[in-house]
Amino acid sequence: MNILLTGGAGYIGSHTCVALQEQGYSVIVIDNLCNSRAVSLSRVEEITGRPVIFYPLDLCGREGVRSVFKRHHIDAAVHFAGLKSVAESVEKPLTYYQNNIDATLTLCEVMKEHGVKNFVFSSSATVYGNPETVPIKEGAPLAPFNPYGRSKRFIEEILTDLHQSDSSWNIALLRYFNPMGAHPSGRIGEDPSGVPNNLMPYISQVAVGKRPELLVYGDDYPTPDGTGVRDYIHVMDLAEGHVRGLEKTMSGAGLTTYNLGTGKGCSVKEMIAAFEKASGRRIPFKIAGRRPGDVPAYYADPSLAEKELGWRARRGIHEMCADAWRWQSMNPDGYPS
Ligand code: NAD
Ligand code: UFG
Repeated sequence: MNILLTGGAGYIGSHTCVALQEQGYSVIVIDNLCNSRAVSLSRVEEITGRPVIFYPLDLCGREGVRSVFKRHHIDAAVHFAGLKSVAESVEKPLTYYQNNIDATLTLCEVMKEHGVKNFVFSSSATVYGNPETVPIKEGAPLAPFNPYGRSKRFIEEILTDLHQSDSSWNIALLRYFNPMGAHPSGRIGEDPSGVPNNLMPYISQVAVGKRPELLVYGDDYPTPDGTGVRDYIHVMDLAEGHVRGLEKTMSGAGLTTYNLGTGKGCSVKEMIAAFEKASGRRIPFKIAGRRPGDVPAYYADPSLAEKELGWRARRGIHEMCADAWRWQSMNPDGYPS
């Protein structure tokens, strides 16, 4: 079966390429490389020993997308492509809405023209905003509070309307919690451009000596040690969750929504300790003020995915840190340009 991965050269997409190829699927990638490098796909080929068909195209360009669907029989699409920085989305809301929503509309229109109606969407736990209670269930109120999060919510609504208009579409909305880690080979991993916003790439860069210290954003939250709590999930568990989500979708499941998380919270201080243990390096840190827009504690109830997809995260924090460190120490400057 041929699976189209939009944004497949990126962090989660490249790991999902590996998981899909290992399950016997053929993958076709469309990516405009605005936040990734094509070498990630060569490394996927190296890991799996199977070819990745790659089109360096912008998903907002309808003719280019059509040409891919004309050239290949596609069974389903997994739609990762999108811009994902919360801070940048606040500065450039129009760019975020234009890119994320237009890319999705173009993809859906071309899929419809070709009768391809199996769709897996990369949503985010950010659609829940500041949750009233944790763990968060899929039915919790949606209240994203930045343009990035709202673009995810709007796309979820567009896809829901699409399914309502034509129930032969099968659509899975996958809400990810905090992906981290890397493939255990150390050949693919997270390669943020510029200064990382997220905790794990920042810690990794401190450990490898690229940055002097970590700023811990707040130690006065109502959490056990005062620092922010998140549900970190190994990127390979997330990739395997996509395989299950895709299989469910292709079995004719209609419209479904799943949290992909571990169900366990980990604080910033716990993460620093785990990374120090896994890497054998010291992580100097300084307590700074709270980061605007951060919520105190955030973790999934992943029981629906376990019940309906037969999927649960298997890897723990130590394995996430060990794999993140292997990637960072083998590739201190990320992918070669
Ligand atoms: P990433 O930036 O590494 O991957 C996204 C890919 O999409 C990049 O390779 C980029 O070049 C490509 N892209 C963007 N716009 C495009 C366009 N118009 N046409 C073609 N390609 C385009 O990000 P990631 O961490 O792998 O995230 C993948 C998806 O998962 C995103 O939609 C993101 O919003 C979502 N997500 C990520 C996280 C996270 O913390 N990493 C959490 C929740 C949800
Ligand atoms: N943190 C620090 N120092 C840093 C970076 C982060 O202390 O340098 C703290 C944050 O304050 C927070 C925790 O580490 O308590 C995690 O922060 P991240 O930036 O790694 O992750 P977020 O939970 O803020 O957000 C991420 C993505 C969002 C996505 C969300 C849920 O950036 O796009 O996970 O999936 F929506």
